[in-house]
Amino acid sequence: MNLTALKQDFEASFGRLPDAIYFAPGRVNLIGEHIDYNGGRVMPAAIHQGTYFGIGKNESSRICIDSMTFGEKRTFEFEDLVSARRQGHWSDYTLGMAQRLLAGVRNPVGFDLLVASDLPQNSGLSSSASFCVGFGFALIDQLDLAFDRIQLARVARAVENDFVGVSCGIMDQFAVAMGKADHCIVLDCESLEWELIQMNLAGYEIVIANSMVERKLSDSNYNLRRSECKQALEILKMDYPVEQLCELSVGQVEASLPLHRFDVLRKRARHVSSENNRVSESVSALKAGALEEFGALMNASHASLRDDFEVSCPELDFLVETAVSIPGVLGSRMTGAGFGGCTVSLVKSSEVPRFAEHLSRAYTAHAAIKAEIYAVTPADGVKRVA
Ligand code: GLA
Repeated sequence: MNLTALKQDFEASFGRLPDAIYFAPGRVNLIGEHIDYNGGRVMPAAIHQGTYFGIGKNESSRICIDSMTFGEKRTFEFEDLVSARRQGHWSDYTLGMAQRLLAGVRNPVGFDLLVASDLPQNSGLSSSASFCVGFGFALIDQLDLAFDRIQLARVARAVENDFVGVSCGIMDQFAVAMGKADHCIVLDCESLEWELIQMNLAGYEIVIANSMVERKLSDSNYNLRRSECKQALEILKMDYPVEQLCELSVGQVEASLPLHRFDVLRKRARHVSSENNRVSESVSALKAGALEEFGALMNASHASLRDDFEVSCPELDFLVETAVSIPGVLGSRMTGAGFGGCTVSLVKSSEVPRFAEHLSRAYTAHAAIKAEIYAVTPADGVKRVA
């Protein structure tokens, strides 16, 4: 993103230059899918694509936000924030975040914001978490509010859950807030204990392929999966004294007789516990530099998301199947919520151009869609950039 151009766009929109510019990354999840809301561990990394916020205080009692992504400007009076409700519009994230961060702040100063993004929307790379965390961070920093990064991640998640109505876990917001260059995060989503693992990929790269299939109906599908997990847990509780699906092993899930009557729920629970195991094995593999083993775990994760959790789609399956057939690829899987969006593959650095060309050609021939394929490196979490 060209920051000079962003400043000029701010000036064109608001008649003066911004006081500051903030950047919030997107994230790619390396492994640990659909288990953050089941008490599991996940392994995301922030990436260099994300959302930029030019911000300038104004003399009003209003937030005025101009979105380059949606080509639209919206204004909110502070006094209306308390009673604000979801409108089914992109500005819901602004409203929800401002409502929570400014609650209890007396006479906050007004401000203008210009938002621009180089992150594809609705593609499983966390554009909404990037927006919420970035907007919140800019507010916190400019108005000197008392929230640390983890509190900010929690607020952003609460906005998704309670204001926007998506029952997501905390993985995305945490990764956007806490990412670190050249590292991935291992986050225990129950205790919020976390550690950073240095991404020593020794001649390999993380490559994203965007299927360009938008996560149609994703929010309702996502919420459905979440409620299926809850139902499976209720049934498993008849056999085991647990609070979260991730406390159970695959063997325990399979041994539960009451669950046998519900094939779909049994598959959902089996994905959750097998995926949680794969994360533990991935942590060991990455720490030991055992990349082939990590790649195999990525492949197994995709199979489980496709067959047991059923959140893949034909386009993602095609991208993954084709990717693993290309020389120099150690593993490939869908990343994020699924139902469209992106895959992530581990590809030998010297093979990346050939990989991108081969995958792109095959995908266009198969689906008549041009995929976007690019290598990413783990980036820092949200920060001020100017
Ligand atoms: C979305 C949600 C996350 C997580 C993933 C699936 O990105 O926002 O909380 O559940 O899907 O792993």
